[in-house]
Amino acid sequence: MTISTGPYDKPITLDPTGDRDPYEYYAYMRNTEPVWRGTIMDQSMTPPELLPDDEWTLFDFNSVFAAFRDDELFSSEQYNETIGLVFGPTILGMHGKQHHDHRSLVSKAFRQSALERWEPAVIDPICDDLVDEIKDNGSADLVKDVTLEFPTRVTAALLGLPESDLDLFRRLSFDLISIYVDIEAGLRASVELQGYFQQQVDQRRSKMTNDIIGDLVGAEIDGEKLTDEAIISFLRLLLPAGLETTFRSSSNLLYLLLSHPEQLHAVQGDRGLIPAAIEEGLRYETPLVAVPRTTTRDVEVRGISIPAGAQVNLCIGAANRDEARWTDANLFDIHRPRRAHISFAGGIHSCLGMHLARVETRAMLNSLFDRVTDLQLVPDDDTRIVGNPFRSPKKLPVTFRPVA
Ligand code: HEM
Repeated sequence: MTISTGPYDKPITLDPTGDRDPYEYYAYMRNTEPVWRGTIMDQSMTPPELLPDDEWTLFDFNSVFAAFRDDELFSSEQYNETIGLVFGPTILGMHGKQHHDHRSLVSKAFRQSALERWEPAVIDPICDDLVDEIKDNGSADLVKDVTLEFPTRVTAALLGLPESDLDLFRRLSFDLISIYVDIEAGLRASVELQGYFQQQVDQRRSKMTNDIIGDLVGAEIDGEKLTDEAIISFLRLLLPAGLETTFRSSSNLLYLLLSHPEQLHAVQGDRGLIPAAIEEGLRYETPLVAVPRTTTRDVEVRGISIPAGAQVNLCIGAANRDEARWTDANLFDIHRPRRAHISFAGGIHSCLGMHLARVETRAMLNSLFDRVTDLQLVPDDDTRIVGNPFRSPKKLPVTFRPVA
């Protein structure tokens, strides 16, 4: 058997940069070779020594979901050698008891009860203020002015950072999450954030505060506390894991609603449809289309043997449009019967911030719909969803009127 180094040997090809829509290719692969020896990742920036020797991709929902749930066989430890180089050891690369204990310590900060407290006190006012800043302008770029900004402000507030540090935090966050395009700036930001977060942790060790950093500093199980290194790695991970995904998923949802005006009007007229719109947006245009795993022993998936030590890319984007699970899976339809998507992964590494992401997005939409009306996209060539594995529009130029 030979390994495909790119998806170029297929009648329908994938643009590995993600500039061209990948969903036709995903459908082709799901229907012809759902367990494929080859890669969908853009490896143009990967140093040769980090390229896997043997690489596979799973495309159908059942295979991807089963792989997420079998974390012993499909290990996430390779994150320690990739993002671990920048963030230090993170929860994403842990397994077994270490993962269980670490996740128990950090998850307190993300419980539903914590969110109930933050939603009216922190998240709603941030989104309201943000839209107030643009509502009389008549036009805006919703990416620059809203979707990049609200998760940044919400994350800073929930971490308990002083308001005067917002500009610094914004700059370091953007540099860090741009690490794929500017490695140097990303690494510099990572080091600077390390020093910055260390100061914040030290302050809480002398005077405790009621925020996420305080929760992490105070968290304890069986007398065990998180080390400073673990807290700081986790805080830095929150920027790509929480801020970047939420900015991209909310941009995708706004793009989808704006380009399906009848569904936009339905949601504006009945805010009870917002949760369904959020889930359908996440299913239809997931912000993260694939994540990697490594097989710890030989395994058979749909009758195909994958050897131990192979990198297996779990294609969330393809799984979310599996016709075997959703009727007319290629249509964006907020009214469709709800079936769980896989954008927040599954199994032990399923997204810790999924409730927060949903609450933040709902608050942003409510603030926007309360304050502006007649929202219309003014599209140009850059107003489309692009990227691999992170996907979203680069900009969303719109016009609108303030609500009287
Ligand atoms: C719509 C927005 C989001 C999406 C689509 C998303 C998606 C994901 C996915 C796919 C994973 C699993 C990655 C893997 O297993 O390789 C994950 C894990 C994680 N996410 Fe999210 N995420 C979102 C928002 C957030 C937010 C707001 C936070 C926190 C502020 C967050 C924190 C985390 C953490 C800490 C993990 C690692 C969990 C573990 O390893 O046990 N995410 N997320």
